[in-house]
Amino acid sequence: MTEQFSKKAEAWSARFSEPVSDLVKRYTASVFFDKRLAQVDIQGSLAHADMLAHQKIISATDYAAIQKGMAQIQEEISSGKFEWLLDLEDVHLNIEKRLTELVGDAGKRLHTGRSRNDQVATDIRLYLRGAIDDINGLLRELRLSLLALAEKHADTILPGFTHMQVAQPITFGHHILAYVEMFGRDAERMADCRKRVNRLPLGAAALAGTTFPIDRLRVASTLGFDDVCRNSLDAVSDRDFAIEFCAAAALVMTHISRMSEELVIWMSPRVGFIDIADRFCTGSSIMPQKKNPDVPELARGKTGRVNGHLIALLTLMKGQPLAYNKDNQEDKEPLFDTVDTLTDTLRIFADMATGISVKPEAMRAAALQGYATATDLADYLVKKGLPFRDAHEAVALAVRHCVDQGCDLSEMSLEQLQTFSPLVAADVFEVLTLEGSVAARDHIGGTAPRQVRLAIAYLREQLK
Ligand code: ARG
Repeated sequence: MTEQFSKKAEAWSARFSEPVSDLVKRYTASVFFDKRLAQVDIQGSLAHADMLAHQKIISATDYAAIQKGMAQIQEEISSGKFEWLLDLEDVHLNIEKRLTELVGDAGKRLHTGRSRNDQVATDIRLYLRGAIDDINGLLRELRLSLLALAEKHADTILPGFTHMQVAQPITFGHHILAYVEMFGRDAERMADCRKRVNRLPLGAAALAGTTFPIDRLRVASTLGFDDVCRNSLDAVSDRDFAIEFCAAAALVMTHISRMSEELVIWMSPRVGFIDIADRFCTGSSIMPQKKNPDVPELARGKTGRVNGHLIALLTLMKGQPLAYNKDNQEDKEPLFDTVDTLTDTLRIFADMATGISVKPEAMRAAALQGYATATDLADYLVKKGLPFRDAHEAVALAVRHCVDQGCDLSEMSLEQLQTFSPLVAADVFEVLTLEGSVAARDHIGGTAPRQVRLAIAYLREQLK
């Protein structure tokens, strides 16, 4: 009787009287996406088996057999010979079944004191920890590339914008450093998230813990976790660490997307501030003149899917009572795609930052339009004793005059300028130059070339 049942519903044994349909099998299986957890699954199983042997829950002989079997499985997986079976539902059952084929009863003893619930939670945490380390390495590379670009253009002047209108002159190095700051905070967020990822669920078993005399701290230390999850129900069920990661990832992509938007605008022939190396651009199949900034545009687009994954995980979690529910199997694809998208994007951007060539003349010409030094003229009058509000008014009148005449503030004669305020003297022309304007903003966080160089040195030190 038992034999008959086990033939019908292989993974589940005697409890079941009929097999699931093929459609349900496909619907419930996760092996085709969770097989990417194979490496960490084996790593977790070996740490568990080591603990079982140490606690004399299994014999040393069984442990040795498990190690040997797992080594072969690892080899089969990396050489592509491992046969993944839909019938065995997920990565965990596939590996355990093969282990049992290879080493017999020792393989059947591996699951003692463990459940797939704490097993999968452990796997995801191990996987995510590795992904976070990769991502932080890439964020560092990207920042280093941007620092090199900023250094090259510490003195290059372009207009800074508010409301997409010329506001004040800034240095291109300063502009790029704004993104270095953003990616720096992103790295901090990832590192902070890692602390909560790096706790061990194993030992929670299905939900309540186990009757075996396990040593969770030993497993935690073998696997490099900082601590164990302190409540078994919480350990198997919550995916807040993955949600937190996706939120941090969405912010990285948001920063990438903002930068992309600027790259696209700057590269538009109408603006012409930069060019991006050909290897990051594509042409048009119909318009021979085109060179499109596809990479930044795609990255801007991919931000949407990463944001979507965050919402998917939040929604997945919100209705779940304690403890484990199968809903959680749906955590993997959004998480994997978030990691893949972010990793690829950062890798490309770190390289692309080295392929940005700047056109200082076009930037300069743009900075000379739009009365970018109007604030400098107002500040000049303030320093000569005029209250700021009055200075603002006087310069507003001067700008209005220039608009009518179609000239720049710096193109007016001294006499003309003096009609707006008798305080104007010959030294005014220094503050009306772009160089004077940026150099005057010489404090921590300001756009002066000197400050840009100091900021670069500070950031380089931090990135050591
Ligand atoms: N494939 C499952 C997942 O991803 C593993 C845990 C299954 N546990 C269970 N009780 N059905 O969550």
